[in-house]
Amino acid sequence: MGWTLDKFIWALLVECILLSGLSHSGKASKYAFVREATSAPPFLSYDYIVIGGGTSGCPLAATLSQGARVLVLERGGSPYTNPERIHLKNFVNSLADISPSSFSQPFISTDGVLNARARVLGGGSVLNAGFYSRASSDYIRISGWNESLAEESYKWVEKKVVFEPPMLQWQSAVRDGLLEVGVLPYNEFTYDHLNGTKIGGTIFDKKGNRHTAADLLEYADPKNISVYLHATVQKILFRYNTGKRRPEAYGVIFIDAMGVMHRAYLNRKGKNEIILSAGAIGSPQLLMLSGIGSAKHLQAHGITVVLDRPWVGQDMADNPMNVLVVPSPLPVEVSLVQTVGITKSGSFIETGSGLSLGPSWSERLQKIFEFVSNQSGQPSTFSSENTQRVADLVRFLTGPTLKGGIIIEKITGPRSTGHLELITTNPSDNPSVTFNYFKDPEDLRICVEGMKTIIDVVNSKALSKFRYPNLPVQALLNLMLLIPMNLRPKHVNTAYSLQQYCIDTVLTIWHYHGGCLTGKVVDHDYKVIGVEALRVIDGSTFYRSPGTNPQATVMMLGRYMGEQIINKRFSG
Ligand SMILES: Cc1cc2nc3c(=O)[nH]c(=O)nc-3n(C[C@H](O)[C@H](O)[C@H](O)COP(=O)(O)OP(=O)(O)OC[C@H]3O[C@@H](n4cnc5c(N)ncnc54)[C@H](O)[C@@H]3O)c2cc1C
Ligand SMILES: *[C@@H]1O[C@H](CO)[C@@H](O)[C@H](O)[C@H]1NC(C)=O
Ligand SMILES: *[C@@H]1O[C@H](CO)[C@@H](O)[C@H](O)[C@H]1NC(C)=O
Ligand SMILES: *[C@@H]1O[C@H](CO)[C@@H](O)[C@H](O)[C@H]1NC(C)=O
Ligand SMILES: *[C@@H]1O[C@H](CO)[C@@H](O)[C@H](O)[C@H]1NC(C)=O
Repeated sequence: MGWTLDKFIWALLVECILLSGLSHSGKASKYAFVREATSAPPFLSYDYIVIGGGTSGCPLAATLSQGARVLVLERGGSPYTNPERIHLKNFVNSLADISPSSFSQPFISTDGVLNARARVLGGGSVLNAGFYSRASSDYIRISGWNESLAEESYKWVEKKVVFEPPMLQWQSAVRDGLLEVGVLPYNEFTYDHLNGTKIGGTIFDKKGNRHTAADLLEYADPKNISVYLHATVQKILFRYNTGKRRPEAYGVIFIDAMGVMHRAYLNRKGKNEIILSAGAIGSPQLLMLSGIGSAKHLQAHGITVVLDRPWVGQDMADNPMNVLVVPSPLPVEVSLVQTVGITKSGSFIETGSGLSLGPSWSERLQKIFEFVSNQSGQPSTFSSENTQRVADLVRFLTGPTLKGGIIIEKITGPRSTGHLELITTNPSDNPSVTFNYFKDPEDLRICVEGMKTIIDVVNSKALSKFRYPNLPVQALLNLMLLIPMNLRPKHVNTAYSLQQYCIDTVLTIWHYHGGCLTGKVVDHDYKVIGVEALRVIDGSTFYRSPGTNPQATVMMLGRYMGEQIINKRFSG
C-alpha cells in the first residue's frame, strides 16, 4: 500500500503543476473593429493610442471611444477564435502552451519561480483563474479614488463579465472546513474584500465559459475605435516643443506579424494622449525602451535617455503562493477559485479541484522548464533522471485529471519588493525580474500562519470524506518538497520547518504588480511624471495587490480613468 500510494500521491502533486499544450487555429473575430495589424496602414493617427489591449486596456479604450478616436495596439491574438481553448477546464493547458501563438509567455524570475505574462486581447483575464473581488474601501481611499465613480465602474464591469459560481462538493467542503477552523465570519456570496470566509465572483459562467476584459469592448463605439492584433509596440516617440521644457509623447512605432513597421501618431488637435496599459512587466519595460528610466541602465543598453527616472522598474512585487495538494478517494468537480478564506493574520486561502491536464504532461513539464531555461540562459535543474522518475509515477495514474483538490495560500501585500531590468532591447523578450519573495520576515510569518490554516482545513471534519485515511498531512507536505516545481534549492533530507517549506516550495499566484508606482513614476492622475501626453494605467501602478485578487480593480481602473479622461476632455 505504502509504495503505490506514495507513487499515486506524487503523481497527483506533479500533475497539478503540469501543463499540456493545445493546438489551435482560426482567425475569426467578434468585432469588425478588431483586425490583424498586417492590414494596418503604414501611418495612422488617433486621439488616444492605448498600448496593450489587456485587462485594463480594453475597458479604458471602450470608454475613451465614447468621446474620441481610439487606437488599441495589442501584441497578442484574439481570444474569440476558439472558445474551448479558454474554457475553465483548459486553465492549465493554456498556461502550459509554449508555442509562439500561446496566450501565455512564460518567464522565470531571478527567484527561480516559473511565471507567466499574458499575450492576447483581454490580457490576464484570458489566462487567469477567474476569481473576482473588489478592493477594500481602505484601498480605494488610500488610492485617492472617487468612491462613487469607483463603485459605478465596478458595476459597469460586473454587468458584463461577472457571475456567481456554482459551488459544488469540493468548494463547499473547503468553505465548511474554513468555517470549522475559525476563519470567520461567514460573508456568503459577495464581491467585497472582507475578513472571514466567502464565496467570490467569477468571470466563468455556469457552463465554465470564460468572459474576459475583451468582452468589455462591446461597450465601445465601433465607429471610433480600431484594435490591431499582433501589433507589438517597439517604442514611444518623444519630441521637444519650442516653449515647453518637457518632452512630449507624440506617437509610437509598432511591428505587425510579418515584421513590417507602422507608425501611429496622436492627432494634433485636442488633449490627446498615449496610454501605456502593457501590464506590470510590459509597461516599465516599454518606458525604459522608450528612454524613460535609470539613465545609467539605459545607457548601458545603448538607449537614448529622454528622462532619467530611476523609479521605473522598481517596487516590483509578487504575492507568493504556496500549495498543498489533497488527493481524494471521492470524485470532485472541476473548479477554479470560488471559496476564499481571509485570516486575521493576512493570509488568503483559495482552492481549486479536478483540473484537467492532458495526457503527456510529464514530458511537457520538462519542456517548459527547458524552454524557459533556454531563453533565460539559466540552467534547468529539472534533470532527466528526475523527469524519468516522475514520468514513471505519472504513468501509474489513469486518466488525465487531478483526482483531488489543491489548497493554496497567498499573503497580503506583500511587503517584499524587487525590481525589473532590461536584458535586451527587443520588446518581445522578457526583462529580468526579481521579486525577493519572503525577504521581509513579516511575509514569511504570514505564509507560515497560512500554511497552518491550510493544515487545519485539510484535517477538518468537513474535508474528511475527501481524505485518504492513511495519508497524514505531514506526508503531503513531504511529497510537495520532492516535486521540481521551481528552481530553488530544496531541503528534503533535513528536518524542516514551515518557514523552510514556504521558502523552498514558493510559486506565484500571478498577482505581480508595481514597476510604475503611483507617486513615483506616475502622479495621481496616472500621468508619467516629467513628460507630456503620456499615462500608465494598469497593474504596474499598484503599491500592493488590491482586493482578494486584483483583476476586478484592474478592470475598474480602466473604466474609471476612461471616464475621468473623457470628462476632462470636454470640460475645457
Ligand atoms: C494564470 C493567472 C491566474 C490569475 N488568477 C487571477 C484570479 O483568479 N483573479 C484575479 O483577480 N486575478 C488573477 N490573476 C491576475 C490578473 O489577471 C492580472 O493582475 C491582470 O490581468 C493584470 O492586468 P494588466 O492590465 O495590468 O495587464 P495585462 O492584462 O497583462 O495586459 C497587458 C497587455 O499588454 C500587452 N502588451 C504588453 N507589451 C506590449 C507591447 N510592447 N505592444 C503591444 N502590446 C503589449 C499584453 O499582450 C497584454 O495583453 C491571474 C493572472 C494569471 C496570469
Ligand atoms: C467619435 O469621436 C469624435 C472625435 O473624433 C467625437 O466628436 C464623436 O463624438 C465620437 N462619436 C461618438 C458617437 O461618440
Ligand atoms: C465623483 O464621481 C461622481 C460620479 O460618479 C461625480 O458625480 C462626483 O462629482 C465626483 N466627485 C468629485 C469630487 O469629483
Ligand atoms: C481584517 O484583518 C486585518 C488583519 O489582517 C485587520 O488589519 C483589519 O482591520 C481587519 N478588517 C476588518 C474590517 O476587520
Ligand atoms: C533548448 O536548447 C537545446 C540546446 O540548444 C535544444 O536542443 C532544445 O531543443 C531546446 N529546448 C527547447 C524546449 O526549446
